[in-house]
Amino acid sequence: MPGIRGPSDYSQEPPRHPSLSVNAKEPFNAEPRRKDLVTSYVTPVDFFYKRNHGPIPIVDDVESYHVTLDGLIDCPRKLFMKDVRMLPKYIVTATLQCAGNRRTAMSKVRTVKGVGWDVSAIGNAVWGGAKLADVLELIGIPKLTNITRFGGKHVEFVSIDKCKEENGGPYKASIPLSQATNPDADVLLAYEMNGEVLNRDHGYPLRVIVPGVIGARSVKWLDYISITAEVCQGFFMQKDYKMFPPSVNWDNIDWSTRRPQMDFPVQSAICSLEDVNMIKPGKVMVSGYAASGGGRGIERVDISIDGGKTWVEATRYQKPGIKYIADGFDSDKWAWVLFKAIVDIPHSTEIVAKAVDIAGNVQPKGVETIWNLRGILNTSWHRVQARCIERSKI
Ligand code: MTE
Repeated sequence: MPGIRGPSDYSQEPPRHPSLSVNAKEPFNAEPRRKDLVTSYVTPVDFFYKRNHGPIPIVDDVESYHVTLDGLIDCPRKLFMKDVRMLPKYIVTATLQCAGNRRTAMSKVRTVKGVGWDVSAIGNAVWGGAKLADVLELIGIPKLTNITRFGGKHVEFVSIDKCKEENGGPYKASIPLSQATNPDADVLLAYEMNGEVLNRDHGYPLRVIVPGVIGARSVKWLDYISITAEVCQGFFMQKDYKMFPPSVNWDNIDWSTRRPQMDFPVQSAICSLEDVNMIKPGKVMVSGYAASGGGRGIERVDISIDGGKTWVEATRYQKPGIKYIADGFDSDKWAWVLFKAIVDIPHSTEIVAKAVDIAGNVQPKGVETIWNLRGILNTSWHRVQARCIERSKI
């Protein structure tokens, strides 16, 4: 495709913020420090985690850049940026979370395979772009379609970047056509992030945003959108990002027994404290984020300062100092809430956070019960240790 350079090495990567914790250099995978993640409700682009499976492509001629719409449709067409910009622009605040968020903690129970992540493989951004439902109308697929007259049931997104898991082929994923054509699902072809042109790391010039679904399905650097009869057969849909029970290991795994993971479960993490903290006895600020997938907002965040025996409710907020009260079922559909509680810690203890979403789903207590060999969806209670400095040593 003209105007696109898909570097086959890592010599032309974009600049990144020096404070990011780099979990893997090539491909580049990095997350912000805990304390930087929750400084604002909308995550600054610099502090938004970066999850890549190959070198970052360079699209230097945006005029000639286009996405090919093909597959089970009457007539394939090219979608240029000017075509996308002609469609109504929607602004959607949505939290993107990597399925591998908090993997490092899961691997402490039993080894798992994958890039290690602390609690910051998540971010909340204001995405701007066209609705996929409007784009699909351009190729004759009406809103709220489950199946096309040619048998199309899925929408596959194929990217420009190449990765080793696909044997040098492009990264790809799919979502059901019913979700893609539902305007209320808010699936976007995004060209803006936080009011700015999307940057290279996050998918310039055009990426998919599938709110409420694990980040792996929000394909960056779009090349093709294909209408298909079957779920995408790519590596990341078939041989990765599936949730297995603790009994499955690398000797008995049968990938075909599980569906690709789509929605993410209820999650929360404390970001004002590290795993182990030396503190003076007294008041301690416990703050962090909570989010749930599938359009389920957060109902409540509970904090315990005795390892989970007793709990207090944290204050939820979007803007500092303003208590957040959901004003309807849809008000925080796709986005996280931040939380805080000031607690009194007289002696060394374990501080815990757990969130509840509007369906009443609660984070599981222990990571052992949800351990899986790929280390995905670690949504267990988030625990940090507070070690009080003896008064004589203060
Ligand atoms: N799209 C492409 N083309 N290549 C990728 O490596 N990574 C996916 C998804 N889309 C990926 C991709 C994964 S696993 C996640 S979690 C999100 O992008 C991360 O998006 P971000 O880097 O903008 O935070």
